[in-house]
Amino acid sequence: MNIRGLNFEFTETSSHVELAAAMHQQCFSKPWDEASFHSAMNIPGTVLVLASEKSVPVAFLVYRYSEPEAEILTLGVLPAVRQRSIAGALLDQGRLYLQERDVDTLWLEVSSRNKAALCLYKSQGFKETGRRKGYYQDGGKKEDAIIMKQIFSTSNLRIDKRKT
Ligand SMILES: CC(C)(COP(=O)(O)OP(=O)(O)OC[C@H]1O[C@@H](n2cnc3c(N)ncnc32)[C@H](O)[C@@H]1OP(=O)(O)O)[C@@H](O)C(=O)NCCC(=O)NCCS
Repeated sequence: MNIRGLNFEFTETSSHVELAAAMHQQCFSKPWDEASFHSAMNIPGTVLVLASEKSVPVAFLVYRYSEPEAEILTLGVLPAVRQRSIAGALLDQGRLYLQERDVDTLWLEVSSRNKAALCLYKSQGFKETGRRKGYYQDGGKKEDAIIMKQIFSTSNLRIDKRKT
């Protein structure tokens, strides 16, 4: 499907783990390697979404669903194309895919120090439901994990299904 110049590809197989691992490395200080992607994709209900612009992959999203709930496992946009609403578009498309599979609640966990991700999730309508104190270790520093949830409703949909 093509939205705002972005093309989205969904897979529940390991077909793109090499590419996903290479992109993950550009987005995280502790990246998932190919083996991690293989392990994740081997669990039923795990979906990898790749967003491409002019045929160049620019972002990825991995989530796992078991209706009526799903959880985001990882999400990243390549540094050169950030703050252009690509992550928002990826989450919009991911939500449509989940709604078609009778999922109505999406969960995630994010570090309290990840300002960009917190801005993204708040602007997407996620609400904080809890915290795990000192859950992440970054060098010598401990960071809280913020647990967030979104319950889907038609108002969460920024993209009209008929246009996809
Ligand atoms: C977090 C991340 C996915 C955001 O991707 P993005 O494509 O730049 O996000 P968007 O452009 O869709 O921005 C969505 C919202 O967040 C805001 N935002 C994004 N990055 C921001 C930043 N660095 N500072 C302040 N606000 C920011 C945008 O202004 C936008 O707000 P709006 O909807 O009110 O206009 C990207 O920064 C990234 O890949 N980071 C590294 C990996 C990571 O942390 N993943 C999340 C793990 S939980």
